[in-house]
Amino acid sequence: MNAYSGKNAVITGGGSGIGFATAKLLVDAGARVVITGRSQATLDAARQRLGTNATAVRGDVSSLGDLDVLAARVRDELGTVDALFVNAGITSAMPFESMTEEVYDQSFAINVKGAFFTVQKLAPLLSTGAGVVLTTSVANVMGMLETSVYAAGKAALRSMARSLSRELLPRGVRVNAISPGPVDTGILESSMPQEAAERFKAARVAENPMRRFGTPEEIARAVAFLAFDATYTTGAELVVDGGVTQL
Ligand SMILES: NC(=O)c1ccc[n+]([C@@H]2O[C@H](COP(=O)([O-])OP(=O)(O)OC[C@H]3O[C@@H](n4cnc5c(N)ncnc54)[C@H](OP(=O)(O)O)[C@@H]3O)[C@@H](O)[C@H]2O)c1
Repeated sequence: MNAYSGKNAVITGGGSGIGFATAKLLVDAGARVVITGRSQATLDAARQRLGTNATAVRGDVSSLGDLDVLAARVRDELGTVDALFVNAGITSAMPFESMTEEVYDQSFAINVKGAFFTVQKLAPLLSTGAGVVLTTSVANVMGMLETSVYAAGKAALRSMARSLSRELLPRGVRVNAISPGPVDTGILESSMPQEAAERFKAARVAENPMRRFGTPEEIARAVAFLAFDATYTTGAELVVDGGVTQL
């Protein structure tokens, strides 16, 4: 039951959805976890549910200053890090004709720059044998409507999993990507009107070979595998999508 006893993990975007499910899985299996996010209320609620083996540090991954604060807190709380789940992200679903510079810049600032500098700032704390997992998306290989900016950012992360793997290999650190298909976490509703989100979700279910969304817990199990158990795997992408990009 305590498979991850003595292990330390950091999860960006760990207060909700896939990040929270991963934090819960790891804490339940004995790990100590630091979670981050921008909303203090979300972090407080998550911390309450996770218990004393979890620490919440408020911060915005698109701010390098906040990432410095996170790294300092992680060093104080955990010392070293065995699993770094670079998961914070936003969707910015919008037809390409209506895309604005502001939304484009915010999407890349959080999903791409934020992920890159999260790894850079926390790298000094990674232990030998540590696993870094970047959350990309099946959107990185699909031409879905209204996802051009989001998908391009996620494709950048898929690429970074390869190049950062090469750079961190001499330190014995593995870097892999998790590529979820549709998971009903509320992320869509936070970035588009309810009606559009419902339409988008119905289309995802209809096209999926399993005719359903995945659960955050199904993604969390794959993340834990990549972070801790996939000791001969680096630079890879694990697709967890009900088969939508495979069948
Ligand atoms: N759900 C899906 O269908 C799906 C599919 C493929 C990939 N993904 C990816 O999976 C990851 C997790 O998404 P989710 O579905 O679990 O949705 P979610 O519950 O909205 O999780 C996103 C998390 O990221 C945090 N976050 C967003 N911007 C941030 C920032 N600038 N700084 C720090 N934290 C930030 C959010 O917290 P705050 O808002 O409090 O900051 C939230 O906890 C994302 O990268 C998403 O792109 C999701």
